[in-house]
Amino acid sequence: MLAIGGAVMSREDIGRDRYVSLYPIHPFGAAQGDLPKARPEDLAETAHLRFDPISACNARCVFCHSDFSHAVKHLTLDDLGAVAAVPMPKLHTIAVGCAYEPLMGKFFETYPSVLQSFRGQAKARIITNGALLHRRDIGPWVEFGLEYLHVSLHSHIPEVYERTMANGMRFDRIVRNLAEIRARFPGVRVLFVNVICKLNDEDVGGYCRWAFEEIGADQIVLFRAVLADAIQSRAPAFAFARQYLAEQGRGGALTDEEWGAVVRDCAPFLQGAVASELPELGASISTLTMDRPTP
Ligand SMILES: C[S@@+](CC[C@H](N)C(=O)[O-])C[C@H]1O[C@@H](n2cnc3c(N)ncnc32)[C@H](O)[C@@H]1O
Ligand code: SF4
Repeated sequence: MLAIGGAVMSREDIGRDRYVSLYPIHPFGAAQGDLPKARPEDLAETAHLRFDPISACNARCVFCHSDFSHAVKHLTLDDLGAVAAVPMPKLHTIAVGCAYEPLMGKFFETYPSVLQSFRGQAKARIITNGALLHRRDIGPWVEFGLEYLHVSLHSHIPEVYERTMANGMRFDRIVRNLAEIRARFPGVRVLFVNVICKLNDEDVGGYCRWAFEEIGADQIVLFRAVLADAIQSRAPAFAFARQYLAEQGRGGALTDEEWGAVVRDCAPFLQGAVASELPELGASISTLTMDRPTP
Protein backbone atom coordinates (compact mmCIF):
# COMPACT_ATOMS: atom_id res chain seq x y z
CA MET A 1 0.00 0.00 0.00
CA LEU A 2 1.14 3.55 -0.82
CA ALA A 3 -0.06 7.00 0.25
CA ILE A 4 -1.25 9.54 -2.30
CA GLY A 5 -2.48 12.88 -0.94
CA GLY A 6 -4.79 11.91 1.91
CA ALA A 7 -5.73 8.60 0.24
CA VAL A 8 -4.26 5.12 0.01
CA MET A 9 -3.53 3.16 -3.13
CA SER A 10 -2.46 -0.35 -4.01
CA ARG A 11 -0.65 -1.34 -7.16
CA GLU A 12 -0.79 -4.86 -8.57
CA ASP A 13 0.52 -6.32 -11.79
CA ILE A 14 -1.85 -9.06 -12.97
CA GLY A 15 -0.81 -10.74 -16.19
CA ARG A 16 0.48 -7.92 -18.36
CA ASP A 17 -1.75 -5.25 -16.84
CA ARG A 18 -1.25 -2.89 -13.95
CA TYR A 19 -4.22 -2.46 -11.60
CA VAL A 20 -4.37 0.52 -9.25
CA SER A 21 -6.97 0.67 -6.46
CA LEU A 22 -7.55 3.93 -4.61
CA TYR A 23 -9.24 4.03 -1.18
CA PRO A 24 -10.13 6.95 1.11
CA ILE A 25 -8.66 5.01 4.07
CA HIS A 26 -6.45 1.95 4.41
CA PRO A 27 -8.98 -0.90 4.03
CA PHE A 28 -7.40 -2.82 6.92
CA GLY A 29 -7.26 0.24 9.18
CA ALA A 30 -3.50 0.97 9.07
CA ALA A 31 -2.37 4.59 9.46
CA GLN A 32 -2.10 6.36 6.10
CA GLY A 33 0.78 8.58 7.27
CA ASP A 34 3.08 5.57 7.83
CA LEU A 35 2.87 4.44 4.20
CA PRO A 36 5.52 5.21 1.56
CA LYS A 37 4.42 7.89 -0.91
CA ALA A 38 3.30 6.89 -4.41
CA ARG A 39 5.55 8.11 -7.22
CA PRO A 40 4.41 8.97 -10.76
CA GLU A 41 6.10 5.78 -12.01
CA ASP A 42 3.77 3.71 -9.78
CA LEU A 43 0.85 5.03 -11.84
CA ALA A 44 2.23 5.61 -15.32
CA GLU A 45 1.61 2.06 -16.59
CA THR A 46 -1.90 1.75 -15.10
CA ALA A 47 -4.40 -0.07 -17.33
CA HIS A 48 -7.21 -0.41 -14.76
CA LEU A 49 -7.99 2.18 -12.11
CA ARG A 50 -10.61 1.48 -9.48
CA PHE A 51 -11.54 3.73 -6.63
CA ASP A 52 -13.88 3.92 -3.67
CA PRO A 53 -15.72 7.25 -3.21
CA ILE A 54 -16.31 6.44 0.50
CA SER A 55 -15.22 3.87 3.08
CA ALA A 56 -18.77 2.85 4.04
CA CYS A 57 -21.72 0.78 2.85
CA ASN A 58 -25.46 0.86 3.49
CA ALA A 59 -25.73 -2.95 3.23
CA ARG A 60 -24.06 -5.76 5.17
CA CYS A 61 -24.14 -8.65 2.68
CA VAL A 62 -23.52 -11.80 4.69
CA PHE A 63 -20.60 -12.94 2.52
CA CYS A 64 -18.89 -9.52 2.26
CA HIS A 65 -15.24 -9.48 3.31
CA SER A 66 -15.00 -5.69 3.67
CA ASP A 67 -14.39 -4.43 7.18
CA PHE A 68 -16.78 -1.60 8.04
CA SER A 69 -15.40 -0.92 11.50
CA HIS A 70 -12.86 1.72 10.40
CA ALA A 71 -13.27 5.47 9.83
CA VAL A 72 -15.84 6.67 7.30
CA LYS A 73 -14.10 9.01 4.88
CA HIS A 74 -14.84 10.35 1.41
CA LEU A 75 -12.26 10.25 -1.38
CA THR A 76 -11.60 13.94 -2.08
CA LEU A 77 -11.57 15.42 -5.54
CA ASP A 78 -7.98 16.53 -4.90
CA ASP A 79 -6.88 12.98 -4.11
CA LEU A 80 -8.44 11.58 -7.27
CA GLY A 81 -7.03 14.62 -9.07
CA ALA A 82 -3.51 13.74 -7.88
CA VAL A 83 -3.87 10.35 -9.59
CA ALA A 84 -5.49 11.82 -12.71
CA ALA A 85 -2.65 14.37 -13.05
CA VAL A 86 -0.24 11.55 -13.96
CA PRO A 87 -0.32 10.67 -17.68
CA MET A 88 -1.53 7.05 -17.96
CA PRO A 89 -1.49 6.23 -21.68
CA LYS A 90 -2.53 2.59 -21.10
CA LEU A 91 -5.55 3.40 -18.90
CA HIS A 92 -8.69 1.85 -20.37
CA THR A 93 -11.04 1.03 -17.48
CA ILE A 94 -12.07 3.06 -14.46
CA ALA A 95 -14.17 1.19 -11.90
CA VAL A 96 -16.15 3.25 -9.38
CA GLY A 97 -16.73 1.02 -6.34
CA CYS A 98 -14.27 -1.49 -5.02
CA ALA A 99 -14.63 -2.51 -1.36
CA TYR A 100 -17.51 -0.20 -0.31
CA GLU A 101 -20.66 1.42 -1.73
CA PRO A 102 -19.93 4.15 -4.31
CA LEU A 103 -23.41 5.74 -4.38
CA MET A 104 -22.90 6.91 -0.78
CA GLY A 105 -19.96 9.09 -1.81
CA LYS A 106 -20.80 12.80 -1.70
CA PHE A 107 -18.60 13.56 -4.73
CA PHE A 108 -20.01 10.69 -6.84
CA GLU A 109 -21.34 12.97 -9.60
CA THR A 110 -18.27 15.27 -9.62
CA TYR A 111 -15.46 12.75 -10.13
CA PRO A 112 -15.96 12.57 -13.93
CA SER A 113 -14.96 16.24 -14.20
CA VAL A 114 -11.67 15.40 -12.45
CA LEU A 115 -11.08 12.55 -14.93
CA GLN A 116 -11.79 14.62 -18.06
CA SER A 117 -8.31 14.06 -19.51
CA PHE A 118 -9.20 10.34 -19.86
CA ARG A 119 -12.55 10.92 -21.55
CA GLY A 120 -12.61 9.04 -24.85
CA GLN A 121 -9.59 6.98 -23.73
CA ALA A 122 -11.00 5.04 -20.77
CA LYS A 123 -14.48 3.67 -20.07
CA ALA A 124 -16.05 3.72 -16.62
CA ARG A 125 -17.91 0.99 -14.74
CA ILE A 126 -20.02 1.58 -11.64
CA ILE A 127 -20.11 -1.30 -9.16
CA THR A 128 -22.98 -0.79 -6.75
CA ASN A 129 -25.75 -2.44 -4.78
CA GLY A 130 -28.08 0.04 -6.53
CA ALA A 131 -30.12 0.92 -3.43
CA LEU A 132 -29.40 4.65 -3.77
CA LEU A 133 -29.79 4.99 -7.52
CA HIS A 134 -32.95 7.07 -6.97
CA ARG A 135 -30.94 9.62 -4.95
CA ARG A 136 -27.86 9.88 -7.17
CA ASP A 137 -27.25 10.79 -10.79
CA ILE A 138 -25.23 8.49 -13.01
CA GLY A 139 -25.70 11.03 -15.87
CA PRO A 140 -22.19 12.55 -15.58
CA TRP A 141 -20.73 9.04 -15.80
CA VAL A 142 -22.87 8.20 -18.84
CA GLU A 143 -21.54 11.37 -20.46
CA PHE A 144 -17.98 10.43 -19.51
CA GLY A 145 -18.43 7.00 -21.14
CA LEU A 146 -20.05 4.27 -19.05
CA GLU A 147 -19.25 0.76 -20.21
CA TYR A 148 -21.76 -0.77 -17.81
CA LEU A 149 -23.62 -0.47 -14.55
CA HIS A 150 -22.79 -3.46 -12.40
CA VAL A 151 -25.50 -4.12 -9.83
CA SER A 152 -24.94 -6.61 -7.02
CA LEU A 153 -28.32 -8.20 -6.46
CA HIS A 154 -28.38 -11.47 -4.60
CA SER A 155 -31.90 -12.86 -5.09
CA HIS A 156 -35.18 -12.19 -6.87
CA ILE A 157 -37.12 -13.45 -3.82
CA PRO A 158 -37.75 -10.37 -1.62
CA GLU A 159 -37.19 -12.11 1.76
CA VAL A 160 -34.06 -13.85 0.51
CA TYR A 161 -32.69 -10.60 -0.98
CA GLU A 162 -33.39 -8.71 2.24
CA ARG A 163 -31.87 -11.29 4.60
CA THR A 164 -28.78 -11.78 2.39
CA MET A 165 -27.99 -8.08 1.92
CA ALA A 166 -29.23 -7.25 5.45
CA ASN A 167 -29.16 -3.82 7.11
CA GLY A 168 -32.70 -2.88 5.99
CA MET A 169 -32.09 -3.22 2.25
CA ARG A 170 -35.44 -3.25 0.40
CA PHE A 171 -36.15 -5.38 -2.67
CA ASP A 172 -38.98 -3.14 -3.95
CA ARG A 173 -36.60 -0.15 -3.87
CA ILE A 174 -33.97 -1.79 -6.06
CA VAL A 175 -36.61 -2.98 -8.55
CA ARG A 176 -37.99 0.57 -8.90
CA ASN A 177 -34.48 1.99 -9.21
CA LEU A 178 -33.60 -0.40 -12.01
CA ALA A 179 -36.82 0.40 -13.89
CA GLU A 180 -35.99 4.11 -13.66
CA ILE A 181 -32.42 3.58 -14.88
CA ARG A 182 -33.66 1.46 -17.79
CA ALA A 183 -36.18 4.14 -18.76
CA ARG A 184 -33.74 7.06 -18.48
CA PHE A 185 -30.68 5.36 -19.97
CA PRO A 186 -31.91 2.61 -22.31
CA GLY A 187 -28.44 2.34 -23.89
CA VAL A 188 -26.58 1.60 -20.65
CA ARG A 189 -25.60 -2.05 -20.22
CA VAL A 190 -26.73 -3.48 -16.88
CA LEU A 191 -24.82 -6.42 -15.41
CA PHE A 192 -26.08 -8.33 -12.39
CA VAL A 193 -23.75 -9.99 -9.93
CA ASN A 194 -25.13 -12.65 -7.62
CA VAL A 195 -22.80 -14.05 -4.99
CA ILE A 196 -24.34 -17.33 -3.87
CA CYS A 197 -24.08 -19.03 -0.50
CA LYS A 198 -26.49 -21.29 1.44
CA LEU A 199 -28.64 -18.30 2.41
CA ASN A 200 -29.59 -17.35 -1.15
CA ASP A 201 -29.16 -20.44 -3.34
CA GLU A 202 -32.91 -20.89 -3.78
CA ASP A 203 -34.25 -20.87 -7.36
CA VAL A 204 -31.24 -19.33 -9.12
CA GLY A 205 -32.80 -20.40 -12.44
CA GLY A 206 -35.83 -18.25 -11.52
CA TYR A 207 -33.44 -15.39 -10.69
CA CYS A 208 -31.94 -15.57 -14.18
CA ARG A 209 -35.37 -15.60 -15.82
CA TRP A 210 -36.49 -12.62 -13.71
CA ALA A 211 -33.28 -10.66 -14.35
CA PHE A 212 -33.23 -11.23 -18.11
CA GLU A 213 -36.95 -11.19 -18.87
CA GLU A 214 -38.47 -8.80 -16.34
CA ILE A 215 -35.64 -6.41 -15.56
CA GLY A 216 -33.78 -6.60 -18.88
CA ALA A 217 -30.32 -7.34 -17.45
CA ASP A 218 -27.74 -7.74 -20.22
CA GLN A 219 -25.49 -10.15 -18.36
CA ILE A 220 -25.50 -12.13 -15.12
CA VAL A 221 -22.38 -13.24 -13.29
CA LEU A 222 -22.88 -15.83 -10.57
CA PHE A 223 -20.13 -16.16 -7.97
CA ARG A 224 -19.91 -19.13 -5.65
CA ALA A 225 -19.16 -17.36 -2.36
CA VAL A 226 -16.02 -18.30 -0.48
CA LEU A 227 -16.32 -17.66 3.23
CA ALA A 228 -12.92 -17.12 4.81
CA ASP A 229 -12.71 -18.15 8.45
CA ALA A 230 -10.29 -15.73 10.16
CA ILE A 231 -12.02 -15.41 13.52
CA GLN A 232 -10.54 -12.01 14.34
CA SER A 233 -12.02 -10.16 11.36
CA ARG A 234 -14.95 -7.80 11.78
CA ALA A 235 -16.21 -8.27 8.21
CA PRO A 236 -19.79 -9.61 7.79
CA ALA A 237 -18.50 -12.80 6.09
CA PHE A 238 -16.70 -13.95 9.20
CA ALA A 239 -19.66 -13.42 11.52
CA PHE A 240 -21.95 -15.20 9.06
CA ALA A 241 -19.54 -18.13 8.60
CA ARG A 242 -19.38 -18.67 12.38
CA GLN A 243 -23.11 -18.23 12.94
CA TYR A 244 -24.14 -20.52 10.09
CA LEU A 245 -21.79 -23.24 11.26
CA ALA A 246 -23.07 -22.98 14.83
CA GLU A 247 -26.73 -23.06 13.81
CA GLN A 248 -26.64 -25.51 10.90
CA GLY A 249 -23.64 -27.68 11.75
CA ARG A 250 -22.14 -27.06 8.31
CA GLY A 251 -20.45 -24.22 6.45
CA GLY A 252 -22.49 -21.51 4.70
CA ALA A 253 -20.59 -21.89 1.40
CA LEU A 254 -21.93 -24.25 -1.28
CA THR A 255 -20.40 -27.68 -1.70
CA ASP A 256 -19.27 -28.72 -5.20
CA GLU A 257 -22.51 -30.67 -5.52
CA GLU A 258 -24.64 -27.68 -4.50
CA TRP A 259 -22.83 -25.39 -6.93
CA GLY A 260 -23.42 -28.03 -9.62
CA ALA A 261 -27.16 -27.94 -8.80
CA VAL A 262 -27.16 -24.12 -9.16
CA VAL A 263 -25.51 -24.40 -12.57
CA ARG A 264 -28.03 -27.07 -13.68
CA ASP A 265 -30.86 -24.81 -12.50
CA CYS A 266 -29.61 -22.22 -15.00
CA ALA A 267 -29.78 -24.71 -17.90
CA PRO A 268 -32.08 -22.56 -20.12
CA PHE A 269 -29.45 -19.78 -20.08
CA LEU A 270 -26.25 -21.77 -20.47
CA GLN A 271 -25.80 -21.45 -24.23
CA GLY A 272 -22.64 -19.37 -24.68
CA ALA A 273 -22.12 -19.18 -20.90
CA VAL A 274 -18.58 -19.03 -19.56
CA ALA A 275 -17.58 -20.83 -16.36
CA SER A 276 -14.31 -20.08 -14.60
CA GLU A 277 -12.35 -20.47 -11.40
CA LEU A 278 -10.73 -17.40 -9.81
CA PRO A 279 -7.99 -17.98 -7.26
CA GLU A 280 -8.84 -15.40 -4.59
CA LEU A 281 -9.07 -15.15 -0.83
CA GLY A 282 -6.79 -18.15 -0.52
CA ALA A 283 -9.36 -20.39 -2.19
CA SER A 284 -10.94 -20.83 -5.57
CA ILE A 285 -14.10 -18.92 -6.48
CA SER A 286 -16.25 -20.46 -9.20
CA THR A 287 -18.07 -18.11 -11.54
CA LEU A 288 -20.66 -18.49 -14.27
CA THR A 289 -21.27 -15.65 -16.76
CA MET A 290 -24.45 -15.70 -18.85
CA ASP A 291 -25.63 -13.25 -21.50
CA ARG A 292 -29.26 -12.39 -22.08
CA PRO A 293 -30.57 -14.90 -24.62
CA THR A 294 -31.23 -13.39 -28.03
CA PRO A 295 -34.90 -13.76 -28.97
C1 LIG B 1 -17.38 -5.51 -2.13
S1 LIG B 1 -18.57 -5.02 -3.32
C2 LIG B 1 -18.34 -3.25 -3.43
C3 LIG B 1 -19.25 -2.56 -4.41
C4 LIG B 1 -20.72 -2.51 -4.07
N1 LIG B 1 -20.97 -2.30 -2.70
C5 LIG B 1 -21.41 -3.77 -4.56
O1 LIG B 1 -21.82 -4.58 -3.74
O2 LIG B 1 -21.55 -3.90 -5.78
C6 LIG B 1 -17.87 -5.54 -4.85
C7 LIG B 1 -18.38 -6.87 -5.36
O3 LIG B 1 -17.93 -7.91 -4.51
C8 LIG B 1 -18.92 -8.89 -4.48
N2 LIG B 1 -18.70 -9.75 -3.31
C9 LIG B 1 -18.97 -9.50 -2.03
N3 LIG B 1 -18.63 -10.54 -1.25
C10 LIG B 1 -18.12 -11.49 -2.08
C11 LIG B 1 -17.60 -12.80 -1.89
N4 LIG B 1 -17.53 -13.37 -0.69
N5 LIG B 1 -17.19 -13.49 -2.97
C12 LIG B 1 -17.26 -12.93 -4.20
N6 LIG B 1 -17.73 -11.69 -4.45
C13 LIG B 1 -18.16 -10.98 -3.40
C14 LIG B 1 -20.21 -8.09 -4.44
O4 LIG B 1 -21.34 -8.82 -4.85
C15 LIG B 1 -19.90 -6.99 -5.42
O5 LIG B 1 -20.30 -7.37 -6.73
S1 SF4 C 1 -20.95 -6.60 -1.13
FE1 SF4 C 1 -22.70 -5.86 0.03
S2 SF4 C 1 -21.91 -5.27 2.06
FE2 SF4 C 1 -20.14 -5.52 0.69
S3 SF4 C 1 -19.74 -3.49 -0.04
FE3 SF4 C 1 -21.11 -4.40 -1.59
S4 SF4 C 1 -23.21 -3.96 -0.93
FE4 SF4 C 1 -21.81 -3.47 0.78
